[in-house]
Amino acid sequence: MTNTELRTDRSDRSTAPDESLRPLSTRAPVRATPLRRGERAPGTPWIIVRLLGKGGVGEVFEVEHALLGRRAALKVLLPANAERHALAARIADEGRILARVRHDNLVDVLDLGLLTDDGRPYLVLELLEGRDLRAELARIGVLSVPTTLTLASQILRGLGALHRAGFVHRDIKLENLFLCDDGRAKILDLGAAEPASGCEGPGARGASLGTPRTMAPEQFEGKPVDGRTDLYALGLVLYELVAGRGPFDDIQDLDALRFAHLDRIPAPPSCFAPQPIPAALDAWILRALEKDPDDRFASAEAMAAEIPALVAPLYAPTARADEITTPSAFYSDVSRPPPEPTRRMVVSALAIAALAAGLAGGRLLGPRSFFGGVVNDPIDARSV
Ligand SMILES: Nc1ncnc2c1ncn2[C@@H]1O[C@H](COP(=O)(O)OP(=O)(O)O)[C@@H](O)[C@H]1O
Ligand SMILES: [Mg+2]
Repeated sequence: MTNTELRTDRSDRSTAPDESLRPLSTRAPVRATPLRRGERAPGTPWIIVRLLGKGGVGEVFEVEHALLGRRAALKVLLPANAERHALAARIADEGRILARVRHDNLVDVLDLGLLTDDGRPYLVLELLEGRDLRAELARIGVLSVPTTLTLASQILRGLGALHRAGFVHRDIKLENLFLCDDGRAKILDLGAAEPASGCEGPGARGASLGTPRTMAPEQFEGKPVDGRTDLYALGLVLYELVAGRGPFDDIQDLDALRFAHLDRIPAPPSCFAPQPIPAALDAWILRALEKDPDDRFASAEAMAAEIPALVAPLYAPTARADEITTPSAFYSDVSRPPPEPTRRMVVSALAIAALAAGLAGGRLLGPRSFFGGVVNDPIDARSV
């Protein structure tokens, strides 16, 4: 099974498009015309430059303003989804939630409208330079512990803002998190977002949405969701960032995956990680992955509050290397570097020595040359 999305509002073809978008177009959606490079998105001042990415709902293009020359990102419903009015309404909801909850770690929205030829809704978003975390992981294998904690800290800030505003993202996954070239992390794709249980606002459409591989137990069970649902999904993201795989990647069948999320205790990330993982980091990630939301962190802020304590030992001159959980497989890997592309993922014997030296010298967040040879690291030294 692929990392495809579960969108149970699929059958909702007869639902009218969002009423408040109607004045923007007098026509119901007709057969969608794909957008072409060098041409304007119909009815907009935006010229298509190139395709940036595609998800289950939309496609995102880099665009240039015909008069101002300014660049942006244009997200439009996939042509194949043109008649799925519930998905069209979700793009509008996504725009409205982003307009309401503006934060440095959430992508910013500039405009919302309907293409004049086929009525597909579009959003104009700030153009992000960099790549989503799925692409980043494909490029370098795993992220180092300090980098992962830096990203976690930023993503938790964005999630905290979203949750405080009363929304749950519901589809936190590598593809929906963006690492900008300047080191900032941004949360994307609020197409599945909805008001947290007990809250009101855009996105309240009563459909069960998400991506099975990264869905929390309560999502599988159709129970009410709140911010802790996103913390579970973030736990899976962080697991994969440091371990190079998720806890249930061995499972392909949807029912078995559901069972795993509901009942199987995940092995700690250190079991699979090709790099040393501090025991406290194992425990932190596993707490986010508790089956019962009451056993997880109470909020994004509570989860973020533990990050300094995870980072401090990485700097402490007295830290002992044996406080780092190291999988036994790790030792068999170090004598003979494996062939590409695995080599990039595996920490070498030198890395153990370097890590120990780093711990002893308090230089774990040192220059790229120090840690870059261990695990390719997209971010140079940054504070958490
Ligand atoms: N503002 C943006 N700037 C640059 N790339 C983006 C931007 N928004 C989305 N992308 C890219 O496009 C992909 C699909 O966008 P997303 O909003 O997740 O669409 P979908 O709702 O179809 O999943 C993302 O995974 C990302 O790689
Ligand atoms: Mg997406």
